[in-house]
Amino acid sequence: MTVRPSIKIGFIGFGTVASGAIKILLKQKKLLERRIGTTFEIAKIADRDLKSDRGIPLPEGLLTSDVTEILQDPDIDIVVELIGGTDHARGFVLDAIAQGKHVVTANKALLAMHGEEIFEKAADKGVDLGFEASVCGGIPIIREIKEGLAAEKINAIYGIMNGTCNYILTKMRDEGCDFDEVLKEAQALGFAEADPRLDIGGGDTAHKLAILSNLAFGTPVALKEIYTEGIEKVSSIDIAFADEFGYDIKLLAITKRVDGEIEARVHPTMISKDTLLSKVNGVFNAVYVDGESVGELLFYGQGAGSLPTGSAVVSDLVDIARNITSQSSGRVPSAAFVPSEREALRIRPMAEIQSLYYVRFMAQDDPGVLSKISGILGKNNISISAMIQQGRKIGGSVPLVMMTHMAKEQDLQTALSEIDQLDCISGSTLLIRVEGEESS
Ligand code: HSE
Repeated sequence: MTVRPSIKIGFIGFGTVASGAIKILLKQKKLLERRIGTTFEIAKIADRDLKSDRGIPLPEGLLTSDVTEILQDPDIDIVVELIGGTDHARGFVLDAIAQGKHVVTANKALLAMHGEEIFEKAADKGVDLGFEASVCGGIPIIREIKEGLAAEKINAIYGIMNGTCNYILTKMRDEGCDFDEVLKEAQALGFAEADPRLDIGGGDTAHKLAILSNLAFGTPVALKEIYTEGIEKVSSIDIAFADEFGYDIKLLAITKRVDGEIEARVHPTMISKDTLLSKVNGVFNAVYVDGESVGELLFYGQGAGSLPTGSAVVSDLVDIARNITSQSSGRVPSAAFVPSEREALRIRPMAEIQSLYYVRFMAQDDPGVLSKISGILGKNNISISAMIQQGRKIGGSVPLVMMTHMAKEQDLQTALSEIDQLDCISGSTLLIRVEGEESS
């Protein structure tokens, strides 16, 4: 084997993901050498915490609290940014690119917010930017969209991309657990974000969707254009009703082409129990892709965790090392399309989407109530396909559930704001969008 200079790596951040990546670099040293034709050398690791034992034996002097020892070291080829957050991380990533270094990051928030700027700078400098670990941890979905599916006109992507939410919804369904209790368990498993509101509020999923949608359709997708609703309002009663109608409730990230525009949205969604996505339980993630030629694909695996996410980081290091050794850096554009060929497509506002809906009212169980509700729905072009009223409570509120035919979001929202003013309605009405075929 020709002996080439080693590829020198500087890690910024030595937390869970960095520990996983470093463990893999050490444990799979020989395997990786056989794959890249040279060696990886961890040149420096910068972190504020120089004391904690990560269970990884490292040579003296490798750890530093000074990031400039990495950014300004001309011998370091690849900077791996794993500190999270967006302010410092953006600065470090842009600095590294400016120094002509290749960059690997797992930072979904950074790419969702500043991706365009970072993609542009990396292309200008001709350096590689790897971010496989930013979406769904160990599932190689970024590489599939950029390379495996390069022949595809992608029509739609549906993803279960937050393990914490999927764990909570699975436990609520299977064990009837209470939301707060299960959230605590999910946090203890170490999957939840430092601020779990990012998980349950859908923000973490929206970050990942912004990245995937951008790559799939070759268009910038601003985070603020992604409608984002979390799982906080989903209750056991809705999960039970969904079951009666043959559905499961998942926090879905949805992006699809519709009449030359793009839909990009994150919200609790009812999907048929017959779909593979509905079988994705617990902390697992899955991404369904519909390609024009290839048809339907499903990618399933661990969306978080030290080793699965570390594996994605190392896969980027391998890609970059191969490009360095074959002098073909920048071969695959960061955003999957040649920069000049990307086009700004309109992201369809939520009010304009069409969907099937599940609506749960808390209504007085009195004569005439149903006709008032259905009258308002009818006036707003909403047609009901099925209905369940649970229990009988003279003079009290009962859940009244309706499934609609295909309807426009704006029409439904207009109807619901009028219905929620009725004296016979108590509490606010819950709406869950339903994906799938209209039942005939
Ligand atoms: N908080 C995320 C999750 C971790 O629960 O899936 C991976 O992004």
